[in-house]
Parts: sequence; structure tokens; C-alpha cells
Amino acid sequence: MKRMKQLAASAVCLGMALTFSGCSYTGGKRIVRISHAQSEEHPEHQGLLKFKEVVESKFGDKYEIQIFPNELLGSAQEAIELCQTGAIDFVVAGTANVETFEGDYEIFSMPYLFTSRDAYHAVMNDVDYMSQLYNSTDESGFRVLTWFDAGIRNFYSTKKIETPDDLKGQKIRVQQSPASVAMVNAFGAAASPMSFGEVYTAIQQGVIQGAENNELALTNNKHGEVAKYYTYTQHQMVPDVLLGNTKFLDSLSDEEYDVFMEAAHDATELEMSEWDKAVEEAYNYAKDVQGVEFIDVDIEPFREKVKGVQQDMIERNPGIKDMYEHIQEVNKEFDSKNSDKNSTEALIEEGETK
Ligand code: GCU
Repeated sequence: MKRMKQLAASAVCLGMALTFSGCSYTGGKRIVRISHAQSEEHPEHQGLLKFKEVVESKFGDKYEIQIFPNELLGSAQEAIELCQTGAIDFVVAGTANVETFEGDYEIFSMPYLFTSRDAYHAVMNDVDYMSQLYNSTDESGFRVLTWFDAGIRNFYSTKKIETPDDLKGQKIRVQQSPASVAMVNAFGAAASPMSFGEVYTAIQQGVIQGAENNELALTNNKHGEVAKYYTYTQHQMVPDVLLGNTKFLDSLSDEEYDVFMEAAHDATELEMSEWDKAVEEAYNYAKDVQGVEFIDVDIEPFREKVKGVQQDMIERNPGIKDMYEHIQEVNKEFDSKNSDKNSTEALIEEGETK
């Protein structure tokens, strides 16, 4: 029965995708389609509603933005392909899904790349710096407009993970990204790449024992119903990006282009302002309602396991070296700021105890 439902759902998706073989109009307005993988409660969906509001408030007589959540138009990889051909106009996808189309995006799949969330945000919010990467994919048929925070990735499983040894013998789902496969194998588990939408059933049926993601996957995607242990290994901060079909973007007038860009940046701002609250809510719901146990661990032994992966990645893909070095500089800046902050805090505390 389940299989029948899945087949029916795929047929609907395929049907929808085939219908979108070119741009379409409704009441004289150009329909602009955006695909994403999250539920309607997710901060990214809220961000995209903002995008729609900004564009339509200026050019509502010309464009109608339609948002398709929950991988309705296909997995992230499939949606990117549809966007490349112009069958749809925009996609939100994790950079791990973009790296097979443009190798430089692989940098974000590197384990323990950022040493703090502050450094991660500083790099990603540097619009001028990031635009070099964002504009590098025109030849592949798409261009990135902005990013969305997708939190910190941690392991979750049907089996408790407290040390890297606990990963041995576990099949762990990863995104369809060679770098993430290498990372999870280096941790000692067996990596099993698949699309986000397949993870729930795969855990439920015992095909895999777990996966790795931010806390929202437990609730928005219900993975906390089937995997009860969530371990803070903090091994990746992989952003999501909003990418658009190059031809469509180039067809916009300068004024329209500016509005689409403004809408994209407003979407990011809104998504980020919702993120921490969403994580807190997910944490509480997963703990209290789904019965998920959250486990804090010493991340050093985990970091140690994947130390070689960083160097291997740079050797295999020299295109990411410049960005790697840039990120190290930003890391250093925030590590010293944070240690100053910590020592000031320590001094204050010391003063208070005297
Ligand atoms: C996160 C991220 C998605 C990604 C997903 C995954 O939820 O926001 O873009 O697809 O992880 O692991 O596939």
C-alpha cells in the first residue's frame, strides 16, 4: 500500500515537473516557481513568503510567486536540474546538493570547517565576498542569490552515539555529496547517500540506523519519531542557498533584478531571525513529546577522526583552497575575540567571587 502511495506521489511530481516544461502565465502574470525541501512551518518557508511579499508588492501585476514545499517538485538534486533547464525558476537547496553541479561548493561539506557559529555567519553574511562564488555558476544555468542558515549538523540514530566507536557498524544517511560520504566513512560509520525525503522510511524500516542534520529534522521531518538519540558532534555547518535560473534572472530589467535581490536578502534576514527560536522549539518538542535523548559529547575524538578529510579534500579539489584559507582567517578572528570575551568573563567572575 505504502509503495503504491509512493508511486502515486512520484507520478504526481513527475507530472507536475513535465507540465512545467516552459514558463507559464496566469491572468497575464508570469508564474515564478520556487521549490524547496522543508515543511511550511520551517523558517525557510517563512523566508520565501517574505520573498513573495516583497516581489509582489512591487511587481504583483507582472509576477506571481508560487512556492512548492516538501520536495513536491522532486528532491533537491532533481529540483536543481529543473531550475537549470528553466522548468522552474528558483530552488532552495543545501550546498551539498549544489557541489555536484559546481565543485567549489564542496568547501561547505568539509567537517569542522568553521570553528564557531560567529565565524560561519560572518563569512556567509559577507555579500561581496560570497558573490564571487554565487556568480560563478552562470554557465551551469543557475546563479545563487542568497543563503539561509541551516544550523549545525549532528548525528541522530536509533542507537546511542557517545564516542566515534559507537558509529562503527551503523549505516548513516548523508546528503548526495561525495565529501559528506568521505566524512561519515572517516568517522567509522557506513555512509548511505539518499535524498532528504527518503530518510524517515529508511530509518523506520531499519535500512539505515540514523542520519545527521540540525534539530529541525527531528520535528519538521518527524525523524525524532524513529530515531531517539541525538548527539552534538557539531561536525558541519552546511548552508542552504536560494538559486535561480540564469536566463530568467537575465531577462529581468535592472529595476526588477534589484527588487528580486532585495527580496532575497529580506528572506534571509527573516529566516535568520526565526532560526534560533525554531531550534529551541524543535529541541523541546523532540525531548518532551517524541522522547528524544539529547547527548552532549567531547567533540575532540570526533574531530580527530576526520582530520585527514580536510587535507584530502583540498588536494583533490584545489578550487576550494582560497576559500578554505579565507575561512581560516575569519575563524582566527573570532576565536581570539571569543577567547578575549571568555577571559573578560572569567575576570569578572573572579572579581565577583572575591
Ligand atoms: C537540511 C537542509 C536541507 C537539506 C537537508 C538534508 O535540512 O536545510 O537543505 O536538504 O538538511 O540533509 O538533505
